[in-house]
Amino acid sequence: MARKKITVVGAGHVGAQTALWLALKGLGDVVLLDIIEGAPQGKALDLLQASPVEGYDSRITGTNDYRDTAGSDVVIITAGIPRKPGMSRSDLINTNVGILKNVVDGVVKYSPEAHLLIVTNPLDVMVYAAWKFSGLAPNKVMGLSGALDGARMRAFIARELGVSVRDVQAMVIGGHADEMVPLKRYSSVSGIPITRLLSDDRIEAIAARTRKAGGEIVSLLKTGSAYYAPSAAVSEMAESIIKDEKRVIPCAAYCDGQYGVKGMFIGVPVVLGSLGVEKILEVELDANEKKAFDNSVSAVRALISELKIG
Ligand code: LAC
Repeated sequence: MARKKITVVGAGHVGAQTALWLALKGLGDVVLLDIIEGAPQGKALDLLQASPVEGYDSRITGTNDYRDTAGSDVVIITAGIPRKPGMSRSDLINTNVGILKNVVDGVVKYSPEAHLLIVTNPLDVMVYAAWKFSGLAPNKVMGLSGALDGARMRAFIARELGVSVRDVQAMVIGGHADEMVPLKRYSSVSGIPITRLLSDDRIEAIAARTRKAGGEIVSLLKTGSAYYAPSAAVSEMAESIIKDEKRVIPCAAYCDGQYGVKGMFIGVPVVLGSLGVEKILEVELDANEKKAFDNSVSAVRALISELKIG
């Protein structure tokens, strides 16, 4: 079987670390693209030189030219500016949508069959814009949200209980923003609902920390935002598509009536396989969860209305 080809646009911290995870997972050859001359080439060379130590055979190349991305199966878009302390993800909208337009045009021209995985913030709005710019079917365009937010919540639950992260599941839906909705009723430790293991206060504290987890890191780093967990989480999404694993991973997906949402992208649990978003799993939400989810949808809708791209 021919190797898969994965393009990562943006050779910053998220992009370069994504290339490394993809190579370590043996998912295919990786093209790292950036507009800054030398940056993707230098990082690709560095990653090549790490390969004998870690034993990966992915061909990782760096480029400034979209022609080198031709025929990609999956394209991960990390390009854009990250938040500075005090900024919300939505403060990035105008700058990043302009960057995204150029990126999507370049990508789709040479890889019309690719799945697009968006990491650029403000996430749910950028996924919507990428879908509009691309002309692709909605199942082929999705964004990193719940895979990352759920991982953060899992890590916090595992720390709190002193148990292995492997046994902790957590479901976070809604937009990848402060209004995201951690679902305690659908979070568990080896099948035991967390509501049986932790007090309401502790669960609320974990949910609150999850909602602000990206911002907590931005404040600590002072320049740039998180990259290890975002890159790990988007690589997990790519893996499920490339290997047709049909993992159930919440991500920003196109809703056509599911959860009462029509015509936009928002974080919901989906089955990820070779067709991209193969199915949205619709689970029952209680009144509080529904209210929180609808609030998150409204926040994303308000940002989309600022876009003026139709
Ligand atoms: C974060 C950024 C990637 O959540 O949105 O850290």
